[in-house]
Amino acid sequence: MAKIIINGGRKVTGQVTIGGAKNSTVALIPAAILADTSVQFDNVPQILDVKNLQYILAAMNVHSTFNEGDLSIDPTTIKEAPLPATAIKSLRASYYFMGALLGRFGRATVTFPGGDNLGARPIDQHIKGFEALGAKVTEEDDVINIDASENGLKGARVALDTVSVGATINIILAAVRAEGQTIIENVAKEPEIIDIATFLNNMGANIRGAGTDTIRITGVQTLEAKNTHTVIPDRIEAGTYMSLAAAFGDGVTVNNVIPEHLESYTSKLIEMGVDMKIGEDSVYIGPSKPLKPVAIKTMPYPGFATDLQQPITPLLFLAEGESTITETIYPKRIRHIAELRRMGAEVSSLNPGEIKVNHSARLVGTTVEAAEIRAGAALVIAAVMADGQTIIDNASHILRGYDRLADKLAGLGVDLQIEGVDLINLMP
Ligand code: UD1
Repeated sequence: MAKIIINGGRKVTGQVTIGGAKNSTVALIPAAILADTSVQFDNVPQILDVKNLQYILAAMNVHSTFNEGDLSIDPTTIKEAPLPATAIKSLRASYYFMGALLGRFGRATVTFPGGDNLGARPIDQHIKGFEALGAKVTEEDDVINIDASENGLKGARVALDTVSVGATINIILAAVRAEGQTIIENVAKEPEIIDIATFLNNMGANIRGAGTDTIRITGVQTLEAKNTHTVIPDRIEAGTYMSLAAAFGDGVTVNNVIPEHLESYTSKLIEMGVDMKIGEDSVYIGPSKPLKPVAIKTMPYPGFATDLQQPITPLLFLAEGESTITETIYPKRIRHIAELRRMGAEVSSLNPGEIKVNHSARLVGTTVEAAEIRAGAALVIAAVMADGQTIIDNASHILRGYDRLADKLAGLGVDLQIEGVDLINLMP
């Protein structure tokens, strides 16, 4: 089992460069199978999810190579094949193969995806979209079968009942080569959705309105990549390093950031009193200092991201008073709380989705467990702040989604070791 061992107490300083967005990448890779040519990406994060997606592609005879952020995928010899269940279950976003296979072959058989344990994470809105496009969806045990091969996919109007990133992207993937026009209403507006639409449009797709409430897609017959697609920077990784820098830093510059993607987050830092200089594509965070408490409520984009709720928790320990977090997207996303308490933090969650964070002057290293990726990120920050050594067990959850974490933390002066993990050997 992977462990991250951190000897805390040394303030972070220097520069860190953010990688490509995990949540774009995990959709772009399945989207690549819609192309009639090979596809190139750069600024791809070096994370375990990419390895697992490559493994899934290989099962379909889709050859891919990944080197230092450059990912090349050749779907021209793709064959329908059973997908490896272990890899599918390793990340929830493998559900994008449903939309992508449906777009490519008119049918898809995919094991129910796994991924982070954030409580119930239904996919009813994805299925609603596939059915609206004319697919028949059946479920047996753990396997979902989606079939439109008889009459083909036909454009349709779909109004989502819940604002869902995954459903929005999955319906785009299914509709992009469908016959006629698809209109999706009440869609999610995350920057990653715009990134996927940009990638597909550059190959000849006709997707309008990404980033607004309504997306209109006119189906096309072919998609051909003509240039390399650069993955947008990871706003959640950026926010994580900004929390670390503000919580226990002595001046840190975070590079390769699109500050507009982080506005709800940075406005909370400003409200707390964090010293910050926002540049065109970088953010400087000044030395840590006492801060003011704030109230945070997670919301769909452009609201405060649920993925940053846990990474900001350790920063709230600096505030002189009680801060509150209301987690509206995943009320069970509180698995960092018990671990932080074990490190001496004054933090509690008595009701689902409600977190109270009080000033915590001293954290003490101990052994904790990363229950999921962003809970793990909160523990990494707390471990850097803590006196003594912290051992974070189950660290593969963190390495799933944080690009070159050990190098980046060491570059900021963190004393850490990662044990028991070899990204290549972790592939199933
Ligand atoms: C994506 C992100 C994840 C982030 C989340 C919310 C990826 C790979 N993951 O996850 O990091 O935390 O957005 O910003 O991009 N829901 C339904 N029915 C559905 C789909 C969703 O009820 O069919 C609910 C969910 O339970 C949740 C809310 O809608 O309460 C938002 O979920 P959604 O946006 O779909 O999250 P993911 O796409 O899974």
